[in-house]
Amino acid sequence: MLQRLLLFGYLIAVVSATVKLRELYSWNVLDWNYPDQYTKQRDLESGAFNPKNALPVGIERWRNKLFVSVPRWFPGVPATLNYIPLDAPYEPSPKLTPYPSFEENELGNCENGLTTVYRIKADKCDRLWVLDVGTYGYDPNVTNVCPYALNVYDLNTNRRLRRYVFRPEDIVPTTFIANIALDEGDTCDDYYAYFSDELGYGLISYSWQQNKSWRFSHGFFLPDPLVGDFNIAGMNFQWISEGIFGISASPKGPDGYRTLYFSPITSNTEFAVSTRILRDESKVKGSYQDFKVVGPRGPDTHTTAKVVDSTGVQLYNLIDQNAIGCWNTKLPMKPQNTAIVDKDDVSMIFPCDVKVDEGRNVWVISDRMSIFLESELDYSDINFRIFTANFEDLIRGTVCEPNRFIPSYERPTYDVGVYRSLNPNYQRFPSTSLEAVGPQKFNNDVNPRYYNYRRQQSQQYVFPSTKPLTTTRNPWWTSPGNFNEYK
Ligand SMILES: *[C@@H]1O[C@H](CO)[C@@H](O)[C@H](O)[C@H]1NC(C)=O
Ligand SMILES: *[C@@H]1O[C@H](CO)[C@@H](O)[C@H](O)[C@H]1NC(C)=O
Repeated sequence: MLQRLLLFGYLIAVVSATVKLRELYSWNVLDWNYPDQYTKQRDLESGAFNPKNALPVGIERWRNKLFVSVPRWFPGVPATLNYIPLDAPYEPSPKLTPYPSFEENELGNCENGLTTVYRIKADKCDRLWVLDVGTYGYDPNVTNVCPYALNVYDLNTNRRLRRYVFRPEDIVPTTFIANIALDEGDTCDDYYAYFSDELGYGLISYSWQQNKSWRFSHGFFLPDPLVGDFNIAGMNFQWISEGIFGISASPKGPDGYRTLYFSPITSNTEFAVSTRILRDESKVKGSYQDFKVVGPRGPDTHTTAKVVDSTGVQLYNLIDQNAIGCWNTKLPMKPQNTAIVDKDDVSMIFPCDVKVDEGRNVWVISDRMSIFLESELDYSDINFRIFTANFEDLIRGTVCEPNRFIPSYERPTYDVGVYRSLNPNYQRFPSTSLEAVGPQKFNNDVNPRYYNYRRQQSQQYVFPSTKPLTTTRNPWWTSPGNFNEYK
């Protein structure tokens, strides 16, 4: 795969982006809370702790805990699942505390430890859903030391309630599953979890009540070959195999079911399926038409994380744009109905995860992942940041605000044709494809904010490495299908 460095030569304009996401924590490099200085020193000397090999990728807030996951791509990550106590005295760069403990984060301890965790999800019944992907290392040196296993913890007692190992039928040779979405029913037993298989192109349903899983396959899980070229913070690379990744369930619809929104990484298109289908194992066959094209988000809208809040507004990361986008799911999905709620070309390089907590606070973590994996981070600079904002504040004034009336003077003076000329592909998926998306409240509601953001960039991030980008390493999720070690 050819890699080349593309310098953004055309960046001039300084953006006056409203800064809405507040930076709460930031780190040059991660550090851990050890029980004592002796143990820490011992781990540093043995290499069991190597701060420069740790990159945070997932977050989740539950009451006084902010969970942070750190995959074990390289040696020296003491714990893959961690938290920051939100009620402790404020520190701008807090050390991570393993959850539930150091012991239960033991690499390679399949039964009672966690090896590598990406995304995590807390539920209304005070449980934390954690998928241990069981891998150690980074492409091409990935070993599957443990099988894929769902671990669910009781957040009040910090005890594991359940461990469920995925069935062999849930996995294909190329499987890579990092993401999780919850479908909350009426009781704590009536819970389903969905997992996106990014490189095996599948969607796995798990029923808490039945303690059982099944797997869907679909063409919409595949990457779009037309949008495999990525430019992030001055780096150009190609991710051509990256399928379904970002998933999130909507609030319950009139029929009592939620809609699971999903998109492949290598795609600018939003898709959806009702949880009525996903909850029903018998629908694994014969449900092709039940999966819907929702619509195009627009050019440069590769996304890896999304969340739909209780009012039906979706937030998602925009990894090409160092930004967080929004879309009101009650409107048809098309670029004009999306907006950028915040962006920053320095502090939001690779906004990796987006979450909304019970108090409707939004949480975002950015981690410069593409630089960490494809080159190297500059540890004299701030690399990892956690932001937070109130949900309402974040979407205020955008087309995503529920029940927003758009006066005619806010409509753009340009024609949609202008947009089309920027990207001839943008209408490949007609936005009328999913009737189920909801009533079209207003027409021609082109959002000028979106358009402006697309043309403005703030100061360029100066690439920290002098190393030429000649790596042939694939992104982290392109792990080879090295699944024989535990079979
Ligand atoms: C993979 O591991 C081998 C042996 O330890 C090492 O020589 C090589 O540099 C590693 N490759 C990468 C890309 O990390
Ligand atoms: C759920 O299934 C797993 C198989 O992976 C089994 O080990 C576990 O005991 C089951 N748990 C319950 C509560 O049935």
